[in-house]
Amino acid sequence: MPDIRPPTSGLRLILGVETSCDETAAAVVASGRWLRSNVIASQFHLHAAYGGVVPEVASRHHLEVILQVVDAALAEAGAGWRDLAAVAVTAGPGLAGALLVGVNTAKTLAYAHGLPLLAVNHLEAHLYANWIETAGRAYREPELPALGLIVSGGHTDLVLMRGHGDYRRLGRTRDDAAGEAFDKVGRLLGLGFPGGPAVEREARAAAKTRLRLPRAWLRGSDDFSFSGLKTAVLHSVRGEAGPPPPVPELAAAFQASVVDVLSKKAVLAAQREGARSLLLSGGVAANGPLREALAARSPVPVFTPPPVLCTDNGAMIAACAHFRFDALRAGWDLDPQPAMRFCS
Ligand SMILES: Nc1ncnc2c1ncn2[C@@H]1O[C@H](COP(=O)(O)OP(=O)(O)OP(=O)(O)O)[C@@H](O)[C@H]1O
Ligand SMILES: [Mg+2]
Repeated sequence: MPDIRPPTSGLRLILGVETSCDETAAAVVASGRWLRSNVIASQFHLHAAYGGVVPEVASRHHLEVILQVVDAALAEAGAGWRDLAAVAVTAGPGLAGALLVGVNTAKTLAYAHGLPLLAVNHLEAHLYANWIETAGRAYREPELPALGLIVSGGHTDLVLMRGHGDYRRLGRTRDDAAGEAFDKVGRLLGLGFPGGPAVEREARAAAKTRLRLPRAWLRGSDDFSFSGLKTAVLHSVRGEAGPPPPVPELAAAFQASVVDVLSKKAVLAAQREGARSLLLSGGVAANGPLREALAARSPVPVFTPPPVLCTDNGAMIAACAHFRFDALRAGWDLDPQPAMRFCS
């Protein structure tokens, strides 16, 4: 059994705070790799009735629970304010009102405790979930350059990571994000919100469906498109081309199409760019068939965070802050940046 215990001295503890969407989260991570605590208060039950996140509801709920979440993260880590080296917070992208709660909380706490404040980009942080140790597995650090596939509720990006802070965006979705497509299809199929886990569950009942839905390859480009696929599901549900197929078959065919396009395009880009590892990240990275397809197709090691670190969490914020400490130092005038970018 390999020794995966973290070093016992010289560790830098960072508190990471995340409120960009509908998770209020805080975590303590040691030197960007070792998880000391990870507290996530998810609000999805508050938004389920609306079929999507209601920004005003999200910010109000963040405000109600943020201090408890931070206290719980410190308690779970067995850490006090004096043990911390910094407070890191998601500055963007995300919902303006939701970000405001995290940014102002982190700013106030950092100032009051005499700690540096670090402003983290939420999408860059999704990539860093791959640097965090996974319980029960030998710790491996991704080798660079790496190909990052960020597939979340709001984004689908292919990014070449040449070094810490050194990125080039190769492609992005031209319409819906992969997670957004899962959510919309989940709604069309009457599976509730969020759609991703529900569609994956439903698809298991029809793993070997012969139903085939379109794939938008956009050849010659690293971009993606999922809106045509979503419309194809809609037409099928309405029975426009014959009797509507059973819901599990539609879920399976939709998922197979998304997984096929994401995995093949990511592997092609990784080979072309000479990447030494492939980093899957964002909420859709929790999808089992996507993880399996990438692992089966990729010639380079594929890193996949455990599902709890794929969706929004404070640990990835703290991990990113560790590796980019100096570059992310922020002033006390830090404001949320709802359209923040981390690479062009
Ligand atoms: N098992 C799964 N299969 C497919 N999709 C999933 C799965 N689990 C979660 N998702 C999707 O992941 C998305 C949530 O991911 P995440 O929390 O990273 O998004 P976000 O933070 O709202 O968006 P962004 O990171 O772009 O700001 C949702 O769209 C959800 O349906
Ligand atoms: Mg996210």
